[in-house]
Amino acid sequence: MRKILATHGLFEAARKILEGEFDVEYMKGAMRPTREELVARIGEKDGLVCLLTEKIDDEVLRAAPKLRIVANVAVGYDNVDVSACTKRGIVVTNTPGVLDETTADFAWTLMMAVARRLGEAERFARSGEWKNWDLDQFCGTDVWGKTLGIVGLGRIGQAMARRAAGFQMKVIYTGRKRALQEVEHAVRAEYRDLDAMLGEADFVSLHVPLLPETRGLFNAKTFSQMKPTSFLINTSRGPVVNEADLVQALDSTKIAGAALDVYEKEPLINPGLKRPNVVLAPHISSASLETRTKMACMAAENVVTLFKGQRPPNILNPEVLKAS
Ligand code: DGY
Repeated sequence: MRKILATHGLFEAARKILEGEFDVEYMKGAMRPTREELVARIGEKDGLVCLLTEKIDDEVLRAAPKLRIVANVAVGYDNVDVSACTKRGIVVTNTPGVLDETTADFAWTLMMAVARRLGEAERFARSGEWKNWDLDQFCGTDVWGKTLGIVGLGRIGQAMARRAAGFQMKVIYTGRKRALQEVEHAVRAEYRDLDAMLGEADFVSLHVPLLPETRGLFNAKTFSQMKPTSFLINTSRGPVVNEADLVQALDSTKIAGAALDVYEKEPLINPGLKRPNVVLAPHISSASLETRTKMACMAAENVVTLFKGQRPPNILNPEVLKAS
């Protein structure tokens, strides 16, 4: 029987998919497995089901001579060295599509929370300090009727744009290239170059993958181009934002606030971000039970499909199969 290593306990539905077909070993524990543990246990495995917290690079792959697939339970796969996998003939898969609406829901939640000061107000309500209703208490800023700037009009960016219609918002977007006209039309989004978008948006929401060209895309220069009344929302990847520059921009009121689900050095959060006008979440944008279950099942199906001799539906490096 082929052997699969899962770096985390999976949901029952995903376990059922794998356990009928393979001998599955789970690395469960309160802490994420260390690199040493991963290297020590991957040895004779044919497949790996991993999370975005595991860095799968050549050192890990060297320890796994039989490995045929790395099934990442996330749409983002910056944690996996895909070209190192490809060189070794290892298939890499991710979990696109199933988390778009859930992630956009959460980006929207963050945007509402920071605009309407929900974090501050919730902490205040719990504190027992609330004595009176006041006219100017926790006055935030409206979301409805404002301009939403989307960086990256992919599936999640589009889901974000669709939500704006109900809030009578204008939607502008930027990205590596302009979207098809029918997409722009469907989500009622107008293209801008980055500079123009930064100067116009009241809320800037990031929906780009982490790539060399998006690392540090939000930095001192970009913050200085944003409106001082505007807010940054990040549910993509932490390193897309230079956190030291963000802290500086908040200190100098270059922008009004931020709402973040992702960080440069997760799970560490820059202490300068722990301030009233920043809403912080622990990387949970896709964390509805329904969606996380679908993601785990999708990763399991990718593994099963490969070992049935078929092309996994979410393969990122199809050239591996062409070569074999
Ligand atoms: C992903 O899938 O890339 C998210 O960050 C976790 O859902």
